[in-house]
Amino acid sequence: MLSLPYQLEAAIEGVLHNVPASKWKSAAKALSERYRTSRTGKESSLARGFDEALGYAAIILPAAYAQLSGAMAAVQRRVPGWQPLSMLDIGSGPGTALWAATEQWSTLQKLTAWEREPAFIELGRQLAQASARQALTATNWQRVTLDKKLVDGQQMANTIEKQLAGRVESYDLIVFGHVLNELPETLRKDIVALAWQRCSGVLLIVEPGTSAAFPIVKAMRDSLLDLDARTLAPCPHDRPCPLLDDWCHFPQRLERPAFQRRAKEASAGWEESKFSYAAMARFPADAAIWGRLIHQPHKQKNMVSLTVSSTDGIVEVQIPKKQREAFRQASDYDWGEVLQSRLESMK
Ligand SMILES: C[S@@+](CC[C@H](N)C(=O)[O-])C[C@H]1O[C@@H](n2cnc3c(N)ncnc32)[C@H](O)[C@@H]1O
Repeated sequence: MLSLPYQLEAAIEGVLHNVPASKWKSAAKALSERYRTSRTGKESSLARGFDEALGYAAIILPAAYAQLSGAMAAVQRRVPGWQPLSMLDIGSGPGTALWAATEQWSTLQKLTAWEREPAFIELGRQLAQASARQALTATNWQRVTLDKKLVDGQQMANTIEKQLAGRVESYDLIVFGHVLNELPETLRKDIVALAWQRCSGVLLIVEPGTSAAFPIVKAMRDSLLDLDARTLAPCPHDRPCPLLDDWCHFPQRLERPAFQRRAKEASAGWEESKFSYAAMARFPADAAIWGRLIHQPHKQKNMVSLTVSSTDGIVEVQIPKKQREAFRQASDYDWGEVLQSRLESMK
């Protein structure tokens, strides 16, 4: 089971220890409530001051880390030899994606974080100092607000940079971790296009695995397909997602750190959080796949039923026990499993 990097867990414990629990616990509870209600992108910041940023770290960061790690692991499986050097974390909060990415790709050397709230930048800096990875401690934290002004300004900056240096500064990996749902709908596509201009490798979007957040991921993937991006995961093709009355999401288990158990007053040692994601790239995956399981396989005594997002569309497959080898294999499948080719029972 996944757990937070030891140094991150210890650093959060350390920061929480220095602040009266009553302060960040009430902020954490209020934050948790706000995260549970669905958002339109027009609300004010979810977290502003340092206590709220701490509340985020105590209660939400572990699940966000799990979701980002789950999505990054799926990318890594599609391009195992890819070795990114630079990364931009957009709407970084305390740098959750930076920690997840440096665990996944130890080649990362140059990290940049864009964040609007000074309290998150301050906390992110403090936590990063605890890392043994030089890339993390040297993160370039930039106070950036994702808004129309940024979109217009970046377009101008790109033109000037191109004229002066013949190229625009780019990043191998760009991550939007749980931030697009906080932006107004009218802005999302422009911000994602801006990021794509600066992306030389993979652009990863991760959102909570809810019916409200999935349409955002789906729409942003569509907009990136229009810009000739290739899909690494989860879809096995570069066509628009055909799902209609359903949403594509995946589970990731995480061992709950002690501080989170205290903050949530929860006794269970682990939690499973669900995420939706789109990993889009300048290059195709190493090898084509046929499909991916987008629901938990339904395992009965005499039948296994699978829902597969495949190059043939969304396919429901039933494998009866009498197809002994196929049944045995399908019984071992997990939600999110990649299927290299059409199942034997379908041929
Ligand atoms: C839910 S947190 C996610 C933080 C981090 N990416 C993670 O996955 O844990 C969303 C972050 O986006 C930032 N954010 C929201 N709207 C923003 C905007 N317009 N410009 C810059 N940052 C923004 C918030 O301040 C917050 O830190």
